[in-house]
Amino acid sequence: MPAIEANGLTKIFGRRPQRGVKLLAQGADRAQLRREGLTPAVIDATFEVAPGEIFVVMGLSGSGKSTLIRMVNGLLEPTDGVMRIDGQDVTHLSAAALREVRRTKVSMVFQHFALLPHRTVGENAAYPLKLRGVNKVEREARAEEALAMVGLKGWGGSLPSELSGGMRQRVGLARALAAGTDIMLMDEAFSALDPLIRKEMQDQLLELQAELGKTILFITHDLNEAMRLGDRIAMMRDGRIVQVGTAEQILNEPATDYVAQFVADVDRSRVLTAGAVMERPVAVVGPEAGPKAAHKLMREHQTSSLLVTGRDRKVEGLVWEDDVAEAVRTGSEALPVKRDEVVRVAPDAPLADLFPYAAASRAPLAVVNDQGRLEGVIPRVTLLSALAVPGSDSALSPADAPGDDPADGEPVLDTAGAR
Ligand SMILES: Nc1ncnc2c1ncn2[C@@H]1O[C@H](COP(=O)(O)OP(=O)(O)O)[C@@H](O)[C@H]1O
Ligand SMILES: [Mg+2]
Repeated sequence: MPAIEANGLTKIFGRRPQRGVKLLAQGADRAQLRREGLTPAVIDATFEVAPGEIFVVMGLSGSGKSTLIRMVNGLLEPTDGVMRIDGQDVTHLSAAALREVRRTKVSMVFQHFALLPHRTVGENAAYPLKLRGVNKVEREARAEEALAMVGLKGWGGSLPSELSGGMRQRVGLARALAAGTDIMLMDEAFSALDPLIRKEMQDQLLELQAELGKTILFITHDLNEAMRLGDRIAMMRDGRIVQVGTAEQILNEPATDYVAQFVADVDRSRVLTAGAVMERPVAVVGPEAGPKAAHKLMREHQTSSLLVTGRDRKVEGLVWEDDVAEAVRTGSEALPVKRDEVVRVAPDAPLADLFPYAAASRAPLAVVNDQGRLEGVIPRVTLLSALAVPGSDSALSPADAPGDDPADGEPVLDTAGAR
């Protein structure tokens, strides 16, 4: 069962929101609704977040992200559509029932996290537990534990004013962790932080996620942040989700021109992995093959090297064409295998880490799994072309990215963050 499930979720601001739903159903666009004083902030959003997944909602300022997340935790009632948390329809709950869902199932971290200035850091972290009536001893223990998880061990007795901005944001995260809910909603939680601190927080979140397995709905307008954190990413534009997919899918198979232009500037070498660009190893030779067979195979595939693998697909080495030709000429029976000239890389290695190898070796890189078995190969040309942006001749610079409605607020496109 999905942890979070949105089905046709729509939010229209204005005096007659239902009229907006009707107009949209008739095919009206945003401008038409605007003329009637209606703002369609979220239109027909449908997605599922699996338990333990980091699901990122990514879009420019004004695209509807905050409105969406506020419907997820019940701060805003949808104009249309259904929202489910752990299978429970929370769309039309009473205020009391909603509070209960918020207390027990979802916690939220905001961009500008408001700490209570006269309470200690520990009390701030424990605040939701206090609201829930948890006793003081347990509250303090859980707050302390949560503070330690976010790197604030020993700060529980300090006042918020003694903390830097980055540390205060950590308290926000600790508060959500102390609450102990399985679902965490994070609305631009790191957006106000300096780039280095932000990167630290991202790493910490990934670490916590690996440890605790929370379901996280993370909102950002920063593409690199989205790509670093998201198991999957939903791209939003003008209230609509235009694509949901992994970072790789969004880079390599952008659903619309808008998405393609948006991702044109991303540092692909950090997002794409060896496993994503590797090719099926067509020409591989077994160690028992003779030089003649190897030579024939190399000519057929027009390649200057061949990987040598055993029955179990374990990579044993490679052979070079020159050596093989020499062996054929001299009538040698043994394959001239070079055992230490193969570069082995893991499927999840980012491409950025592979360049030095690609520069150092003429042979394709061997992508091997934990057991050393061959999963694929990356020829040098593949590595280079993987970094070229698809259709890059038509790519716009980020400042030209289309679709920002100035009326929606400052369009912010920050793709430089993680570089
Ligand atoms: N309470 C509100 N009343 C009227 N319009 C709103 C309200 N909240 C948001 N909007 C409008 O909804 C649109 C989406 O806003 P928001 O969800 O805050 O986008 P984002 O978080 O992506 O920046 C914007 O046009 C915004 O002006
Ligand atoms: Mg917002």
